[in-house]
Amino acid sequence: MSLRSLAAVAALACAASAAAQDSQLVSGPGVGLVNAKCGTCHDVTHITRSRLTRDEWTDNFVNMVSRGMPPATDAERAIIIDYLVTYYGPHPAPPPSADTHADAAAQATGIDPGDPIGKLLNTSGCTACHALDKPLVGPAFKAIAARYRSDAGAAARLAAKVRAGGAGTWGQTPMPPNAALSDAELRQVVDWVLARK
Ligand code: HEC
Ligand code: HEC
Repeated sequence: MSLRSLAAVAALACAASAAAQDSQLVSGPGVGLVNAKCGTCHDVTHITRSRLTRDEWTDNFVNMVSRGMPPATDAERAIIIDYLVTYYGPHPAPPPSADTHADAAAQATGIDPGDPIGKLLNTSGCTACHALDKPLVGPAFKAIAARYRSDAGAAARLAAKVRAGGAGTWGQTPMPPNAALSDAELRQVVDWVLARK
């Protein structure tokens, strides 16, 4: 093998390992919905390290539902699978682009992934379990805000609980710990939740 082709192989291997470690999904139509639905039980490196065909992503989707993924509508499923095949499929992915399906994520959760806090909630997987005004796996953000309305110490306590995870206040379903958000971001999202009316 020539030196030049060795260098090319090394560069490819590097690119592949960088891609394998991507902890954020590429921006594109449907990314908000994929973050909302797929970013909870495991981080999105399960997706970013995969290159699957449409059939394989479709099987994977069925598999995730059987593992307990909260229900998705047919329209949501179509958007999610199109996104996965486009950016994590067998063909070279197109350049990142805007999430022209942000409305689908917003509709599923009542939270706009284009808003700065909405985006944090979305990319940290919170919106996989929480919507604005209906219970999903966890309580609605509006219900949380109402419960702690007159509790001055709530923000600090709840930030600590989101960090550590826990159960028992709303039911027996546990909230997993969150290690991804910085302390400042965590406080920002909790303040935002508590300000919902
Ligand atoms: C209810 C929990 C849950 C949700 C939500 C979820 N997954 Fe998974 N996923 C799992 C479990 C459990 C595994 C197997 C164990 C592991 O590898 O962590 C897994 C594994 C995977 C794998 C590795 C391949 C495999 O079959 O082992 C991929 C890829 C994947 N998930 C993609 C997704 C995508 C895409 C979504 C959103 C459409 C999603 N997951 C949502 C639980 C979930
Ligand atoms: C896998 C599902 C899941 C994810 C992901 C999740 N939550 Fe939760 N969340 C829950 C459940 C279930 C509860 C109820 C826990 C209980 O009953 O004590 C809850 C409770 C809460 C509460 C109220 C806690 C209390 O003691 O009243 C807040 C605030 C909250 N979540 C915010 C967040 C934020 C912010 C994120 C993202 C960083 C997040 N959650 C991610 C499932 C989840």
